[in-house]
Amino acid sequence: MASWAHSVMVVLAIILLPIMVETKVWHYKFNVVMKNFTRLCETKPIVTINGKFPGPTLYTREDDRVIVKLVNNVPHNITIHWHGIRQLRTGWSDGPAYVTQCPIQSGQSYLYKFNVTGQRGTLLWHAHITWLRATVHGAIVILPKHGVPYPFPKPDHEKVVILGEWWKSDADDVMNQWIQTGMPPNVSDAHTINGYPGPVPNCSTSTGYTLHVESGKTYLLRIINAALNEDLFLKIAKHQFTVVEVDACYVKPFKTDTIYIAPGQTTTALLTADQNSGKYLMAISPFMDTIVAVDNQTAISTLRYKSTKMYSPTILTALPAVNATSATNVFIESLKSLNSAKYPALVPLKIDHFLTFVVGVGVNPCSTCINGSRVVAGINNVTFVMPTTPLLQAHYFNISGVYTDDFPGNPVAPYNYTGSGPLTNMQITNGTKVYRLAYNSTVQVVIQGNSVIAPESHPIHLHGFNFFVVGKGMGNFDPLNDPKKFNLVDPVERNTLNVPTAGWTAIRFRADNPGVWFLHCHLEVHTTWGLKMAFLVDNGKGPNESIIPPPKDLPTC
Ligand code: C2O
Repeated sequence: MASWAHSVMVVLAIILLPIMVETKVWHYKFNVVMKNFTRLCETKPIVTINGKFPGPTLYTREDDRVIVKLVNNVPHNITIHWHGIRQLRTGWSDGPAYVTQCPIQSGQSYLYKFNVTGQRGTLLWHAHITWLRATVHGAIVILPKHGVPYPFPKPDHEKVVILGEWWKSDADDVMNQWIQTGMPPNVSDAHTINGYPGPVPNCSTSTGYTLHVESGKTYLLRIINAALNEDLFLKIAKHQFTVVEVDACYVKPFKTDTIYIAPGQTTTALLTADQNSGKYLMAISPFMDTIVAVDNQTAISTLRYKSTKMYSPTILTALPAVNATSATNVFIESLKSLNSAKYPALVPLKIDHFLTFVVGVGVNPCSTCINGSRVVAGINNVTFVMPTTPLLQAHYFNISGVYTDDFPGNPVAPYNYTGSGPLTNMQITNGTKVYRLAYNSTVQVVIQGNSVIAPESHPIHLHGFNFFVVGKGMGNFDPLNDPKKFNLVDPVERNTLNVPTAGWTAIRFRADNPGVWFLHCHLEVHTTWGLKMAFLVDNGKGPNESIIPPPKDLPTC
């Protein structure tokens, strides 16, 4: 090419580039305020964002930028986590208190700033400190890029459906019960659908949510489990769901009449209003297939066709039994990555770190507790102790004494994790330990449930990454034979997995995001008890592979 032509091209590129790559910035203001809701049968105010429960939906678009100004007008400290947003190099905006930031104190504000890179679908945001997320949560809707269609038939309408759990007493008081007594805290008093508990005994003001539909139309339901401690089933009488995406990753569409969803997970599904006009029960109920107590109440809502007669009866359906393990398996095993040319499943095939995390609850001595012991939880017999200086700050500014990087990547003394023999390995040590990874290294983690006190399913969430769920099974993971059965072609990609009761799940991811990233059980009660750890991913080469410098308004502790 002649040199003048080359110069013209360069000049044109400089002029056009900002036009071509211009990203929209979505601005939001999140005001933290107290508010009363009579539909929750209580007169006490709850902590909300902008006086809404659930909070406002944060709409954005793939490859755009989001800036949320959070202003804290309540007495509580707060932080917000954008659950599932990758936060590439922007750990300062990830949100978990004392992991990536100090809490935003009463009267203070903070700007959360992040790009939404290569993600589209439904996620959630929630408070990430104490048990505040019981009332401080909402949906994130990431629309596909302009001109890029959904890889499924275009719905006529979209609806957000947020499932939650409600306590009559302040959720933080429920948490403090454990701190004082060492005993498991109370289960919730009701489940909610979009903030409505449905009819509650002894409460004339409680109402149920109504999903209004029009005959023949198709709805994209963005379903979010924002509950603290319970896996849930969702059913709508006589209607089928076609699941098309989970955790903002497209899946091969499949039909089901029951959605199974754990705290922190999202499921986007199509529903066609293809029945006779009328009212249909829409309900959620808990899943728990072991001896652990749950709030066994069903939250009742209604799917209602336009022009339904006022007094028509509601058509009912039965929900799965509380211990319907098979229903959860059917759902989980139906999830496969779309793995199309446009949305390939880039499963790491060569692995640098083979890790095994044994997760579960145990007991530690506690002289001030009711039984002389405290229920705790951990990973590889380590209960994570929250530091008072955020890990990310300690890492970035080289502050020593905040954490150590000797988190055991495998159990120190292996045992029969899922046996039913005498109680062993109950004692757990305390520590603030991270597992260190080089930039771009590849990781496999087998998350193995233990049965030390009670086997239990765990929804494990990893910040900063999506991972592929390459395998799962019952009992102890067999490192020789189980990997032969791994799905390395189209495993589901997500950010919150399910470890089955007395079983294991294996995931793979690439550590292509420098920073400090929390991994924890998304049952808030288990996080409180210490079932958490963090990965520290070192910077790679140059600024594009390094953590951005901290913002000026980063809160101090
Ligand atoms: Cu949605 Cu660390 O959590």
